[in-house]
Amino acid sequence: TRRVRTRDLVAAKERGERWPMLTSYDQYTAGIFDQAGVPVLLVGDSAANNVFGYETTLPVTADELLPLVRAVVRATRQSLIVGDLPFGSYEEGPAQALRTAVRFMKEGGCHAVKLEGGRRCAAQIAAIVGAGVPVMAHIGFTPQSEHTLGGYRVQGRGDAADEVLADARAVAEAGAFAVVLEMVPGEVAKQITHELSIPTVGIGAGPDTDAQVLVWQDMAGLRTGKAPRFVKRYADLAGALTDATRRFADEVRGGEFPATEHTF
Ligand code: KIV
Ligand code: NA
Repeated sequence: TRRVRTRDLVAAKERGERWPMLTSYDQYTAGIFDQAGVPVLLVGDSAANNVFGYETTLPVTADELLPLVRAVVRATRQSLIVGDLPFGSYEEGPAQALRTAVRFMKEGGCHAVKLEGGRRCAAQIAAIVGAGVPVMAHIGFTPQSEHTLGGYRVQGRGDAADEVLADARAVAEAGAFAVVLEMVPGEVAKQITHELSIPTVGIGAGPDTDAQVLVWQDMAGLRTGKAPRFVKRYADLAGALTDATRRFADEVRGGEFPATEHTF
């Protein structure tokens, strides 16, 4: 089996096949998701919240993300790996965006990059694509702009649907191979999905996008506490790990571990 290519994803859309995408930030999860047949893995800037413990995605840097990108690439054989360009690494213009994308490809070894923004980032997308690097766009709610957008809020309700639609058209026109639609009304996502020939990847965008993405710790229930409405937990990793940890600690305290079979 070979790596998934961006053209496989466009072909899947043409056949009407949906596909899953997950974030991954490390060797073991990447290997599991790759073997489970998830065609696209995103080393998201959401590592800021989910790996590094920042409150927002804004502080994380390319220097912090690139080692995670390398780990995920090394641990996989089939999945297409997308590296997420962090806040501050592409907004200045096409030249800065291309410089950062080139770092992700050369130092990270990923197969595509992602950045946030529609019309305002069309020139950046075109410059990166023009250098031979596939770009996944990200519109609707874009976490790096949360202070402008007024927090985690659905984008494109009512008349604002035209804004999201214009962003979708702009990123497709600029050459993006796919576009993430985050927290937009299902009807708007459906319309964009029908109109664009490139795949749409929904997160909080309803059932009619070509693909669906979740942060893996949300999908697997490692992150506890109140989750956004669009999250579904498919496992209780936090519970399983808490149990394992308590049993280990109890057995150490009680002198049951290590036993003779663990001893040289
Ligand atoms: O960084 C991230 O996790 C993302 C996805 C949720 C699309 O951008
Ligand atoms: Na992101």
